Amino acid sequence: MPVKRVTPATLLKMKKAREPIVVLTAYDWPTAEVEQAAGLDMILVGDSMANVVLGEETTLKMTMDVMIAHCVAVARAEGRAMLVGDMPFLSTTISVEEAVRNAGRFVAEGNMHAVKVEGGEPMASTIEAIVRAGIPVLGHIGYTPQQTLRFGRKVVRGRGEEAAVILRDAEAVEEAGAFAVVLECIPMKLAKQVTERVGIPTIGIGSGPDCDGQVLVVHDMLGLSDGEKKFVKRYANLKAQMRVAIDQYAADVRARTYPDETHAFTDDK
Ligand code: KIV
Repeated sequence: MPVKRVTPATLLKMKKAREPIVVLTAYDWPTAEVEQAAGLDMILVGDSMANVVLGEETTLKMTMDVMIAHCVAVARAEGRAMLVGDMPFLSTTISVEEAVRNAGRFVAEGNMHAVKVEGGEPMASTIEAIVRAGIPVLGHIGYTPQQTLRFGRKVVRGRGEEAAVILRDAEAVEEAGAFAVVLECIPMKLAKQVTERVGIPTIGIGSGPDCDGQVLVVHDMLGLSDGEKKFVKRYANLKAQMRVAIDQYAADVRARTYPDETHAFTDDK
């Protein structure tokens, strides 16, 4: 029997029932399979793939074509999670028409159920047009990595007077029709205020415990990326485990202990 997929209405119900929304990124089919098996509510094919998969310092070189190829792979994993494709740098900002066309590619070619658009009030008319075209939009405010050349690498946004800008961004994104909004690296008191003020679910990353849901970059929480981030809890240390396995393989090949006869074919087996 086909599973009942999570929709914007499901997420709204979860916010009202104060049921936490669980989100992770995925960029490939095997990771998406594990996340679907774990019953996640949403999987984000994030442009953070530029950092954690391609080794780029920023997300600015990510392209539509690369995003779409990875969305297709993630969508091959079956499950209940809502699939969200992250609109990369310049795909939303050249013109509203181009943004709608690019959002459409995520659905028609990438098999996504929604798109994520970085930016608050200045992106409201673009979000509105994409929603009008029939594509659900996840907003993203606070620290927005695609604006890194403008604002620098200062991660925490919304301290002091900037809090008013974040509140306005959240309201603008909601009024434009977004079904939920990511709050990235804003102070936890402000995240609580935003969560209480808007009717749509808030999905926090580095924004404390009072958001309606949480998202992390999967490579960060699995210990596949380098460097410490204050807001990330590491649930595994896979890079270290990979190193042990690869060192052992290299040692076995060099010592001619792998492959042995059990890993080789004979005339009949
Ligand atoms: O690209 C990404 O993974 C994101 C999340 C950090 C929200 O935007």
